[in-house]
Amino acid sequence: MNILNGNFFLSKQAVYQPCNWFTRNGWRYKMVLMAVASFFTLATMAQRNVASYDKAIAAAVSQYKSAVKQYADSSIYPRSTKPDGSLYTIKSEDWCSGFFPGSLWLLYGMTKDVAFKNAAIKWSVALEKEQFNTTTHDLGFMMYIPFGAGYQVLKNESYKKIIIQSAKSLATRFHPNVGVIKSWDFKPYTYPVIIDNMMNLELLFEASKLTGDKRFREIAIKHADYDMQHHFRKDYSSYHVVDYDSTNGKVIRKQTNQGYNDESAWARGQAWGLYGFTVMYRYTQNKKYLDQANHIADFILNHPNYPKDGVPFWDFNDPKIPNTYRDASAGAIIASALLELRKYVPSKSGVYLKQAQLILNTLTQPEYLAEKGNGNFILKHCVGNWPKGKATGEIDAAINYGDYYLLEAIDRARRIKKSELGK
Ligand code: GLY
Repeated sequence: MNILNGNFFLSKQAVYQPCNWFTRNGWRYKMVLMAVASFFTLATMAQRNVASYDKAIAAAVSQYKSAVKQYADSSIYPRSTKPDGSLYTIKSEDWCSGFFPGSLWLLYGMTKDVAFKNAAIKWSVALEKEQFNTTTHDLGFMMYIPFGAGYQVLKNESYKKIIIQSAKSLATRFHPNVGVIKSWDFKPYTYPVIIDNMMNLELLFEASKLTGDKRFREIAIKHADYDMQHHFRKDYSSYHVVDYDSTNGKVIRKQTNQGYNDESAWARGQAWGLYGFTVMYRYTQNKKYLDQANHIADFILNHPNYPKDGVPFWDFNDPKIPNTYRDASAGAIIASALLELRKYVPSKSGVYLKQAQLILNTLTQPEYLAEKGNGNFILKHCVGNWPKGKATGEIDAAINYGDYYLLEAIDRARRIKKSELGK
């Protein structure tokens, strides 16, 4: 078939009169050429995406193999890189402890390399005592990420019990007279709830599934509903912290702890909200959560300060933009959330996929992806807590949750049919 002679998809008349067809049906000719060109462009994009995901997985395999070898003691968890490049390590009670075993489980899932499974078990089991920890709201991050993944693989009674007990501990932080799960116990707050807490609700839904006890699920729904009511501004950006009166649930103050200022949109907070309400829809099929997730996605993706390469600045309202830091972890969380959300919104599926791919393509380039060094993490340029300053705030650092959500997003992207990846 020779496309250039104009005999492609043509009427009889055009086929027998190629010259006439070319002048009278020029628009058709152009459309055919454009269709063919975009087919090849999409195919090339799909190949490029798949290649960059494979490269990131290979980098993670090598980085995490060397981490497992180096940090043989499973009571210690790598959290991030310090400004001097050395490693910041934590104990099981830190809110970031679940991400390292979480990444090991993801790598096991993607490679089926039993060395990752053994390491994932080793660093998960060392978290066991945290199932009784009632001083934190972060049990979804700490416990559901590793034990949820491990339970899917091992189907063992002991992980199931740990998930259920962790949910029980988290549920102790829900007080019916307020109607939400309390995030922090420290001053100056009274009954603070942070948007990040949306990420811990998955643990409660899973505990209801495992036990048949609806109470966990009801707490998650009440929490999300109160969050929807009080945490969001008219443009669907979210406050970081809402402090409530512990006697009646009235709002005392809306503010930030990790963002630029009280009225700014802290990037990772927006990412947590997007991911959290997408998960709410997964478990409830209630359209109000889907609408909320779509609105948050619109806020992020259409924001004038959202960079063309898809990796947000650490706060959408930092007046120094573009001369300030990116938060690659927020990019990874957004990509992963969009790859789930697209499944629920056929009309936006293509747009969300394209945006997620854009982020992942950026994060898998050498500017963001480390194949060696970097504390054995793969993702560079994350911002943990900017107001704390460079020495302690994990600014422009590698942080374990950046890696975890990047790997999760890549895993999700790799499950999408190759034919769709170019879209
Ligand atoms: N507290 C979770 C975060 O820093 O994103």
